[in-house]
Amino acid sequence: MKQTTEGNQGTEFEFELRYDLWRLATFVPNERYPVHRWFHFKEGFSRDLVELLARRFGLEEGDVVLDPFVGSGTTPLTCMELGLEGIGIDASPLMVMISLAKTRRYDPEALERHAVRVVERARPVHELGSLNPLVRKAFRPDVLKEVLGVREEVISVEDEDARLFLTLALMRAAMSCSYAVKDGSVIRIERRPIPPFRKVLRSTIRSMIEDVRRISLRSGPAQIFLGDAREMSLIGDETVDAVITSPPYLNKIEYTRVYEIELELFAGGAKPELLRSYIGLSPRIRKVSPEAEGLPDSAIAYFIDMEQSLREIMRVLRAGGKAALVVSGGVYPNTVVEVDLILARMARRLGFHVERILALGKRVATYGRVHRIGESRESAVMLRKEG
Ligand SMILES: C[S@@+](CC[C@H](N)C(=O)[O-])C[C@H]1O[C@@H](n2cnc3c(N)ncnc32)[C@H](O)[C@@H]1O
Repeated sequence: MKQTTEGNQGTEFEFELRYDLWRLATFVPNERYPVHRWFHFKEGFSRDLVELLARRFGLEEGDVVLDPFVGSGTTPLTCMELGLEGIGIDASPLMVMISLAKTRRYDPEALERHAVRVVERARPVHELGSLNPLVRKAFRPDVLKEVLGVREEVISVEDEDARLFLTLALMRAAMSCSYAVKDGSVIRIERRPIPPFRKVLRSTIRSMIEDVRRISLRSGPAQIFLGDAREMSLIGDETVDAVITSPPYLNKIEYTRVYEIELELFAGGAKPELLRSYIGLSPRIRKVSPEAEGLPDSAIAYFIDMEQSLREIMRVLRAGGKAALVVSGGVYPNTVVEVDLILARMARRLGFHVERILALGKRVATYGRVHRIGESRESAVMLRKEG
């Protein structure tokens, strides 16, 4: 294990440099794992990273692990594989739907029965009615009528688990039969030949049921809630043994817009109240966390929100409980914001012991794509609540 302190950070915190693990901080390894791969979440981390952190924390069967920014559900699903009790919170109804669907304990035979019924009974809707113009543009009209027809059948499935499973299957099939292409923070509409929707739906369901048969789960289902990491009133004081999470990255862009179609069609459409994590929000700043002084206003808003989330993590953790926050440096027009260091300093001020900063990746940060302005690090900030 390579262990060192990094030059400009001095000896303030222990740094462990594990740049060999950079892939674990990405979603890519999840593509190999059943169920984990049901929704490719570009902003997600891997189940292997969650397992590594859980093992480092020395967690034991039955321990409670919270992910307050649960995203696509990787933390609670990995907990179910490891025999831990997973809890997830997210402010986005779409991510809650996906996380819920991935963390049920399904009966594959029951799923098959429900799926056959839904696919057989569904008929295309006659009229498209009033729809978000982006949704209309993203589909060929006959495909959209089919998608909405299947959605009507899925909504009427009484078994909640089967309904969630089929909603996710339908979403995956629909999006792969759409013209929508995600490109950074925007959706591009690209007209192309579309495969037959019913065929895609059937094969998506088949491969997902296959995954249900292959995954080996030791606990669960997980508890997943729509909520706000800054105010987790659903979680009692000192009820959590560990937190494994990655908050939204401090960024120049609002990347969640690329999921607008999925949110609209499959998760009720309500716009979530997210952490203030990107430039362009023009927030009204009333106070500044001391660690964030001198940063642009939008970065200050991010750290104010993160301070609130850290206070909540402190409240729900048991004494001696551990937390890992996977974060990435923010690249502002002409400066790199060292998010890991700022959060570590903030956590220390709030009473956490900072065990170390596990550096997992680094990228060259550029200004205007050509001028090198430094390095942006991706790290897990490892904390312990003093007992
Ligand atoms: C970087 S992603 C988490 C990815 C997750 N670790 C995974 O592997 O899928 C951050 C998540 O935080 C959620 N989020 C943003 N603001 C939030 C808030 N105030 N409370 C809870 N969740 C929030 C976003 O919807 C997003 O799903």
